[in-house]
Amino acid sequence: MSYAVKDLSLSLEGKRKIDWAEAHMPVLHSLKLKYEKTKPLEDIRVGGCLHVTKETGVLIRALKAAGAVISWSGCNPLSTQDDVSASLAVDEKISIYAKRGVSKEEYYDHIHSVIRNDPNISIDDGADLTVEMHNRIDQLSNLYGGTEETTTGVLRIRAMEKSGKLLFPIIAVNDAETKHDFDNVYGTGQSALDGIIRATNILISGKNVVVAGYGHVGKGIAKRASGLGGNIIVTEVDPISALKAKLDGYSVTTMNEAVKLGDVFITTTGCKDVITLNHIKNMRNGAILANAGHFNVEISVDNLDKTCSKKEPINQHTMGYELDNGNKVYVIGEGRLVNLAAAEGHPSEVMDMSFANQFLSVLRLLKEGKSMNNVVYDISRSQDQDIALAKLNSMGILIDVLSNEQRIYLGGFGEGT
Ligand code: ADE
Repeated sequence: MSYAVKDLSLSLEGKRKIDWAEAHMPVLHSLKLKYEKTKPLEDIRVGGCLHVTKETGVLIRALKAAGAVISWSGCNPLSTQDDVSASLAVDEKISIYAKRGVSKEEYYDHIHSVIRNDPNISIDDGADLTVEMHNRIDQLSNLYGGTEETTTGVLRIRAMEKSGKLLFPIIAVNDAETKHDFDNVYGTGQSALDGIIRATNILISGKNVVVAGYGHVGKGIAKRASGLGGNIIVTEVDPISALKAKLDGYSVTTMNEAVKLGDVFITTTGCKDVITLNHIKNMRNGAILANAGHFNVEISVDNLDKTCSKKEPINQHTMGYELDNGNKVYVIGEGRLVNLAAAEGHPSEVMDMSFANQFLSVLRLLKEGKSMNNVVYDISRSQDQDIALAKLNSMGILIDVLSNEQRIYLGGFGEGT
């Protein structure tokens, strides 16, 4: 075991946080209780590259209980919770390479440390580990396959598949309904606003909140910001998504127009150059900018850094910039994922389902990985439904069951008017 953590003395705080999360993740916890007896992952090396949060700590504990030998790195320079990282090193004896505030070089060093542990199965969030495993495929001796947690990562890996460059099977955990319809919507909806509010303590009510992108993440953020009294303006490139935003009751316009109106800007597109320096120059004095997409490419923070007349931090999370025209703008978390840079990421209850999908996908790779093709696989409908049902059960909710007659009716075509 080796590790790279900021401060081992934070381990008790980290352990308490993971315990708290575990108590709020009943589906994943029940998988841990089920598989710690049979240990199906005995001696299987699992390499992860996923935000080191208290929820990820619960996933790591569950994989370890099932027998896995784990090495792990963070998947974003600003998302690691250092106390959790310390607890994973001290209490769980995991090879963990994760510190908050790492340079790009250290970030990749940590991923390469995971690869040096020769994982049999990978768990990725954003595809940086998957890409690096491809660059170092000769260092890997016995690979079953990997999983991918997020939309951006799945898009990258599908591009690898399309160009014939994918060298091992990947299960797209993100594409499970019990992942993206919950984590991306309710998780980011709440945690992105949590980050903005922790970083600024602004009143959302009465503000013009510009949400760039109306996919699952944009929808979740728009809904929560609207619930707090914000006046939502959506920008989109996809006509169907734009129409949905309009019919959901929001204003829709171009970014060129939105910059003149917005008090708060939140990017959620997964694309680069969504808010350019030119956009920023046309914003109102005091505009606040945050990103909720996976990479820090949506807001042109680099250009702002280079061209501003003055730069001064407001607090730990928020940087104030003065522009040549005298206006000020404020960027939260360096334009990185605001929910993890300035808050604690998605709540445990929603990560419960995402990580139950991860856990079951690792078991599937162990069983089927060697006979799978080098393509992207969806999780099965039955896994999605089992997880939803387990979540409902954990909330004490019962649902109806189709009668035999209803089943026959739904499967037939004979009964009409
Ligand atoms: N992504 C967003 N929120 C997260 C969390 N709490 N843990 C791990 N990954 C996340």
